[in-house]
Amino acid sequence: MTNTTEKRYYITTPIYYVNDKPHIGHGYTSIICDVLARYQKLMGRDSYFLTGTDEHGSKVARSAKKNNLAPQDFVDGLVPAFKDLLVDLDCTNDDFIRTTDARHKDFVQSVWKKMQEKQHVYLGTYSGWYSVRDECFYQENEIIDGKAPTGAAVEWLEEETYFFKLSSFQDKLLKFYEENPNFIQPQSRKNEVISFVKRGLRDLSVSRTSFKWGIPVPGDDKHVIYVWLDALFNYISAINEEYSSIWPCDMHVVGKDILIFHAVYWPAFLMSLDLPLPKCVFAHGWWTNNGEKISKSLGNVIDPVHLINTFSSDYVRYFMMREVPTGEDGNYSDDAFINRVNAELVNNIGNLCQRVISLINKKCNSQVPAQSSRNQIDDSFISYSHDIVDQFNARMQKIELHLALNEIVMLGSAANAYIENKKPWEQSGQDLETTLTCLINVIRIIGTLLQPFIPVKAMSILSMLGINEPANIYTCKNDDLAPGTKISTANIIFTRLEK
Ligand code: MSP
Repeated sequence: MTNTTEKRYYITTPIYYVNDKPHIGHGYTSIICDVLARYQKLMGRDSYFLTGTDEHGSKVARSAKKNNLAPQDFVDGLVPAFKDLLVDLDCTNDDFIRTTDARHKDFVQSVWKKMQEKQHVYLGTYSGWYSVRDECFYQENEIIDGKAPTGAAVEWLEEETYFFKLSSFQDKLLKFYEENPNFIQPQSRKNEVISFVKRGLRDLSVSRTSFKWGIPVPGDDKHVIYVWLDALFNYISAINEEYSSIWPCDMHVVGKDILIFHAVYWPAFLMSLDLPLPKCVFAHGWWTNNGEKISKSLGNVIDPVHLINTFSSDYVRYFMMREVPTGEDGNYSDDAFINRVNAELVNNIGNLCQRVISLINKKCNSQVPAQSSRNQIDDSFISYSHDIVDQFNARMQKIELHLALNEIVMLGSAANAYIENKKPWEQSGQDLETTLTCLINVIRIIGTLLQPFIPVKAMSILSMLGINEPANIYTCKNDDLAPGTKISTANIIFTRLEK
């Protein structure tokens, strides 16, 4: 885990369609990835975090037309909002790929040529249903009441097209899932994918002639390359030069709606090129707003920028990671947001920091006291805090981010209970010093573990303890503050939210 010669931990978000400004779903996926990328770094392993925008295809072309803009001008106008959102959410992405970048277009064309040389692509005619919203082909038996299974409108297409021989990868894919049981996460989603493949894979139409907004097929430019084939290769086109030190990808984080593209089409494309496959595709759930599906027509879209401006980036990150079991659907409401932050950050952890640091300010001349003798209560408190670190790490490895945060909250509650038990306001001398030394080190652990989730506030906690550089999670059980370390005056870290 801490071996620095290990390959960089490569993690990606899906690249976002730029047919409108960013919404909460984009923010959510980016936060999950940022938490995991930061976590790896804090465990001593370098990470590489990629995100970007998916700019081709009929969906974007139609939105551009509606806005009376040429597609390139339209996407150029929207991309800054996607980049700004990452900055506003304190995301530490290493690169931002746009599918209209020359580096990407060249790469996709070279991939296409290789697929053709290896005879995985052939020319034919497609007739069937297509949903522009989903950028996806559907079979006749999938259509319900004239719509896609996702509820999206479909239209009948009949065009000359290039096909990718997806059908020839069915058995290889099933074998791959069997040999790599952790490829699809959470496990509950795995069966969905396996049954999809077992139902039979048909060759996939991978070019379009009815519009022009895409990467031209090399040597036949009346076709543009299907937007999903184009988009999926961003994960390699972006790291082209550093391919050998980064690929295969460790973690593709995606929404559950696009799992099939990542767990079926993407590995098949890679197999056709004899390239190594990613290690894991993790599918997260969807957010609803006060119990309703979020959609523009319902007028209940949650604007992530508005949330950040109202509540701060750290609070948004905390709420989104804590409220919903990672992988499941979740519901947004202002009440849930305010209650979560006030109960866990303000009342529990904030209060703990305030109480302990004020006591050190008052009774120990704002310095970490010298280590003295611990009794059994102190020992079990410290050993509990170390167990929490282990549990936290286990939860992070399993991408149970809500439970990782729960470990921190439990440690906060245990520390508040320890204060009630030891009553430091009645103690003096060595007894008092021992209590405060144990507490300040547990606060250090809490601040350390909070770093991937709420980097700004975590740093504020740590800097009150004289720690001004990111604190390593891997070693944090052994990094006790030296006696005499200067502790700053108690600042209010977490501001209470009002309804
Ligand atoms: N462009 C494709 C991805 C190509 S990756 C090679 C795409 N883009 S998207 O902009 O429509 O969606 C991006 C991500 O946002 C997806 O992972 C999707 O699941 C997620 N979300 C969209 N709405 C969401 C919610 N309401 N809640 C949570 N995430 C949701 O798909």
